[in-house]
Formats: sequence, C-alpha cells, structure tokens
Amino acid sequence: MAEALLGIVIQNLQSFGQDQLATFWGVDKQTLKLSSNLSAIRAVLRDAERKQITSHAVKDWLQKLTDAAYVLDDILDECSIHFTKMHSDDGHISCLSRLHPSDILFRFNIGKRMEDITQRFHDIHEEKSKFNLEPGVTEVVQTVDDDWRQTSSDITEPVVYGRDHDREQIVKFLLEDASNSEDLSIYPIVGMGGLGKTTLAKQVFNDHRVCKHFDLTIWVCVSDDFNTKTILQSIMECITGKNPNLNSLEAMRKKVEEVLHGMRYLLVLDDVWNEDQEKWEQLKGKLQCARAAKGATVLVTTRLEEVASTMQTQPAYHLKKLSEDDS
Ligand SMILES: Nc1ncnc2c1ncn2[C@@H]1O[C@H](COP(=O)(O)OP(=O)(O)OP(=O)(O)O)[C@@H](O)[C@H]1O
Ligand SMILES: [Mg+2]
Repeated sequence: MAEALLGIVIQNLQSFGQDQLATFWGVDKQTLKLSSNLSAIRAVLRDAERKQITSHAVKDWLQKLTDAAYVLDDILDECSIHFTKMHSDDGHISCLSRLHPSDILFRFNIGKRMEDITQRFHDIHEEKSKFNLEPGVTEVVQTVDDDWRQTSSDITEPVVYGRDHDREQIVKFLLEDASNSEDLSIYPIVGMGGLGKTTLAKQVFNDHRVCKHFDLTIWVCVSDDFNTKTILQSIMECITGKNPNLNSLEAMRKKVEEVLHGMRYLLVLDDVWNEDQEKWEQLKGKLQCARAAKGATVLVTTRLEEVASTMQTQPAYHLKKLSEDDS
C-alpha cells in the first residue's frame, strides 16, 4: 500500500518539477530535498512492508510515511489547481494576477507547507535507520528523474537582454584578476531562481575571449547531487567524451589530475545547492591536487548566499534583476 502510494507521489513530484511548477511557486529547494529523501525511503519499502508484520515500530513508521505521502500529494494537487486557475482565457498568467493578494497568500502558505512536509519526510528518512531495513528492488515505483534541472553549456536563448555589463564584469575577472592568481580562483554568481545565472554563465563560457584565454573549458551541472566522485567523473566525461568507469575516488582523482595538470582551465559548476563545508573542501582539495596552471578558475552559479560563503572565496557576484525595459 505504502509502496504504491509513494510511487504515485514520486511521479507527481517529478511532473511538478518538469512542468516548472516548483520554480513558479518558489519551492525548488524543498522539491529537490524531497526527491532525494523519497528515493532513499522507496529503496527500503519492500523490506519494511515485510517487517511490519512482526514489528509494531516499523508498522507505525509506515503509517507515518503513508500520512505524509497523502499530505504531500494534496499540496502538489493544490499547486497545480491554483496554477490552472491563474491562467487567463488566452492561456497566459497576467502580471496583475500574480500580484493579487490571494495569490501572494497562496504562495506564502504553500512555501510554509512545503517546508513542513520536507522536514517531515526528512525525519521519516532519518528514523528508518533504526530498523536496519535492507534496500531492495521495487517493481511498482519508478525512478525519480532529476534530469529536468540538467543544463549544458550551449546557448539556448537566441537573444540575451541587458546582461552585457554583467558579462563584461565576469570576463574581466577571469581574464585579469583570476589570471594573476597562483591559487585556484572560485567565483560564485548568486541570485534568485530564474534570474538568469545559468544564461549569463553560458554567455561567459562561450565568449570568444574566454575560449581563447583558457586551455580547457568544462561545464558541469551539479544541482542537488554534490558528490565529489560524480563531479570528477563529469569533468572527465566533459573533457574526454567518455565515462572513465572508475570505482574508487582515488583512481578518479588521479585521472582528473592527469588531464588538468598544468592546464589553465575554467570549470563551471552550475546550480550548486551544497552548504556542507566538508563536501566542498573535499572537492576543492582534489581540484587543487591537480596543480593546474596559474589562472585556473571555478565559476559557480547558485541561488544561495550560504553556498557562496561556504566556498570561502572572494566576494560573490550578485546578479541583479533586469531593468523593466530589458525584462
Ligand atoms: N537576459 C536574458 N535575456 C533573455 N532570456 C533570459 C535572460 N535571462 C534569463 N533568461 C531566460 O530565463 C529563463 C531562466 O534563466 P536561467 O535558467 O538562466 O535562470 P537561473 O538564474 O539559472 O535559474 P535557476 O536558479 O533556476 O537555475 C531561461 O529560459 C532563460 O533563457
Ligand atoms: Mg540555473
């Protein structure tokens, strides 16, 4: 029962992300956390369903999970109904309707409820470790697909408005300030969701002066999976065009060192959410080991100020809203 229900909720959450509703309601961060917790819970459900016959504690845990799944499903439903209601007859959402007090209130309420339910699933996820549940294969539930947040370095927007100054500032940083630095430079672009951070990073990444200045340019979309090994693997894939298929972190580090050694590279880490200092230090350590050439730089895009401070670098670039005319 819990397994089938969770399968439906995971699918609904996936559509919620793919249809950009999470972004629209400003709850992407919670959606990402939920996806990752639900995937981990889903993996042990088969075993939990079996063990509930003999364990009251597991039975209670499954009940908590079922109740929370219903609550989350209601929230997702309400978001999509409210979104449909906001559409005018021609299928667009007018600026006025977005500013309507009832919509502002709705957005506030949904934000709060998503926060609460994310915490609730987080607690359920933590509690599961008490029961020594074995991960197994589930047939009913499909894998959560986080591809909807994936980005690549190619320019997808035919015209980019009002970002010439920002692009010049960042290019100047890469070509002048960072190029004189012996240490690896880390430069985060910070701004709220949908502001155009990725678009700007792509502009910089594809700028002919930047392409000429760096020996290597590498684009890695990180999103919620800040895992050193995965990021190193993506770096290798981006440079060599194939998956190195190495199991150990040490082997991966050596491969990355081989390709980055003595190179002035630009690494873009797009869409970073990691606030865990240790995880960042681990990746930074591996990159520093590579002993790249002077001027090597990591350009980061993130919504969160805390992420920028976690990376302990020179002041971040705070992206501003476009002017009325440009937007
Ligand atoms: N200056 C611009 N001119 C034209 N289109 C833009 C501009 N900035 C952003 N866009 C468009 O707005 C949308 C959101 O931009 P983008 O993905 O770069 O935002 P973001 O800040 O990276 O958001 P997120 O925090 O969700 O990653 C995209 O479809 C993009 O093409
Ligand atoms: Mg982005």
